[in-house]
Amino acid sequence: MDEYFIRTEHLCCNYRDENGREAPALIDINLKIKKGEYIAVIGRNGSGKSTLAKLLNMILLPASGKIYIDGKDMTSGNLSDDEILDIRRRVGMVFQNPDNQIVATIVEEDIAFGPENLGIPTPEIRRRVDYALETVGMRGYEKHEPHRLSGGQKQRIAIAGVLAMQPECIILDEATAMLDPRGRAEVINTIELLNRERKITVIMITHHMNEAVRADRVIVLSDGRLLRDYPPRQLFSEPDFLRRQGLGVPQSVELIDELRRQGIALEGEPVTPEECAGAIMKYLKQKKAHDG
Ligand SMILES: Nc1ncnc2c1ncn2[C@@H]1O[C@H](COP(=O)(O)OP(=O)(O)OP(=O)(O)O)[C@@H](O)[C@H]1O
Ligand SMILES: [Mg+2]
Repeated sequence: MDEYFIRTEHLCCNYRDENGREAPALIDINLKIKKGEYIAVIGRNGSGKSTLAKLLNMILLPASGKIYIDGKDMTSGNLSDDEILDIRRRVGMVFQNPDNQIVATIVEEDIAFGPENLGIPTPEIRRRVDYALETVGMRGYEKHEPHRLSGGQKQRIAIAGVLAMQPECIILDEATAMLDPRGRAEVINTIELLNRERKITVIMITHHMNEAVRADRVIVLSDGRLLRDYPPRQLFSEPDFLRRQGLGVPQSVELIDELRRQGIALEGEPVTPEECAGAIMKYLKQKKAHDG
């Protein structure tokens, strides 16, 4: 078995433009993602984020280069339909618009849809639906109508539908983009739980730097190229690079920068809100001890 759950080598993908000419969407992407990692993918509009997600899920085929999933070459050209479906099961996708992902008129049927298509026996489907609803914090909503739920709840139902397929990896393509702050927090908390407790590999495409700060690594795409593959701490210590990419830094990092500019000597390299709060508290305690 491969050390990496996902590995790409010199991956390239092209689209045909309106004149029928091939235009590159991804150029020479080399990625290694271990089982259980939490990866954020950022980059301005059109940088190739969705294309990358679709390649990893085998919705698109590359022009050249290799994709290995769990050590298996997905680009050898001789995969059977069953093997492709198996990859789609193991690498689940959640998209931006929750309404486009609802397939049934009752929550439990919506979640059961995937496993039913796999021919899973009914008692096992029941168990999976219960487990998935429990995991996304939606127990009690079995008989509800999905279209009447809030955006955050709909996205959690979409995640539950993916979970019912027992995936090893979940790719979220701007799954919080259409949600209000509360819905966004619900989805992020759910995803963090899946990653931490269920050891599911997460690839989170996002425009929100506050979400990227939670990842183990952040990948920056720009015009189809992979420019950075860094832990958040390292990436957010390059605010000028990020601003040039049209990306900015998380509010927590912005706050720490501003406090330092105003002469407050904070220690370390805090990036998450919790770490920033910790650094400020430490400073205040030291100041109190010093002043007192
Ligand atoms: N179906 C398509 N046909 C032709 N060109 C496409 C198609 N899909 C994407 N592209 C082009 O490929 C490039 C990468 O697009 P992609 O959708 O992967 O970017 P993205 O980073 O997901 O952008 P966004 O932040 O807007 O979702 C862009 O230049 C886009 O115009
Ligand atoms: Mg996209």
